[in-house]
Amino acid sequence: MRTLKFKNHDEMPAIGLGTWKSGKGEVGNAVKIALNNGYRHIDCAATYGNEAEIGEAFTEVFSEGKIKREEVWITSKLWNDAHKKEDVIPALKETLKDLQLDYLDLYLIHWPVAFKRGVGFPEKDDDYLSLEEAPIIETWNMMIEAKKQGLVKHIGVSNFSSMKLEELMEQTKDIPEMNQVELHPYLQQDDLLEFCSKQGIHLTAYSPLGSGDRIDAMKAPDEPSLLENKVIQKIAKKHGASPGQVLIKWSVLRGTAVIPKSTNEGRIIENIQSMGVNLDDDDLKEIASLDRHFRYVTGEFFVTKGNSYENIFDEDDYKA
Ligand code: A2P
Repeated sequence: MRTLKFKNHDEMPAIGLGTWKSGKGEVGNAVKIALNNGYRHIDCAATYGNEAEIGEAFTEVFSEGKIKREEVWITSKLWNDAHKKEDVIPALKETLKDLQLDYLDLYLIHWPVAFKRGVGFPEKDDDYLSLEEAPIIETWNMMIEAKKQGLVKHIGVSNFSSMKLEELMEQTKDIPEMNQVELHPYLQQDDLLEFCSKQGIHLTAYSPLGSGDRIDAMKAPDEPSLLENKVIQKIAKKHGASPGQVLIKWSVLRGTAVIPKSTNEGRIIENIQSMGVNLDDDDLKEIASLDRHFRYVTGEFFVTKGNSYENIFDEDDYKA
């Protein structure tokens, strides 16, 4: 398995199992299937609401003795309602308790957005904390503290634009080691990729398959399907692979980690077998031409009129 290398020589397997949208009653089984079929990287988050079941699966697999905790890269994320400095470590400890672990390999600030404590999802302006009330550097300093305490081995962020990364980097010498963002052929993020690679920040690609199982309220009515894209399908056919495998291998070849979600045994196995698919230069050129700056996860759900989180991705072509 290809890996991403960190400064202390730790290695993160490039393909991990995503668990966003994996429901209770199925996520534990998905994690067990993944670990028993070669996955050594599981991506979690407190807000996915399924960490307790994942924790039971970890304990079951590790107690069988064939796979050791240290052999698996486990990531989780700090939810937006725990950005205040006094809330970061307690939120992390809750995640560790749910996952039945004593450390994480990687802990990420999930979004550059802060809510009041206890707000799962914002419904009104009053649910937010402003950037002044919860400066990201204060949250980041507690992430550094969590690393110092040995609760996590690596720290990073998620959904950060290069502008937000720069702003944070100006205020700290411990820069994020990872930025997890939406990344796929319709949103190739070349500039962010280049910026992060220059800074030595790794990227993880989320929604690599287009996250077709998002709830309808999150979908644009005419959103394009990645898995049904004609070019992807043609390339898949040429290599005797599936469209999903082409999308996953494309991410790996760009040097990022990638976390396809599945709760289906056949697809979990199919996805890790993407490593065996050999895309050639022609394929890569064709896929490069598919970029259309399309986001499945717009972050619009965080924007209430006039709050500090408008244009969350700091895009030039942003329209309110
Ligand atoms: P399922 O869990 O039933 O396999 P993303 O990782 O972009 O969020 O996409 C997840 C969606 O893609 C889920 O609906 C998942 O369904 C589906 N999926 C996962 N792997 C594959 C695959 N290899 N081919 C087609 N669909 C897949």
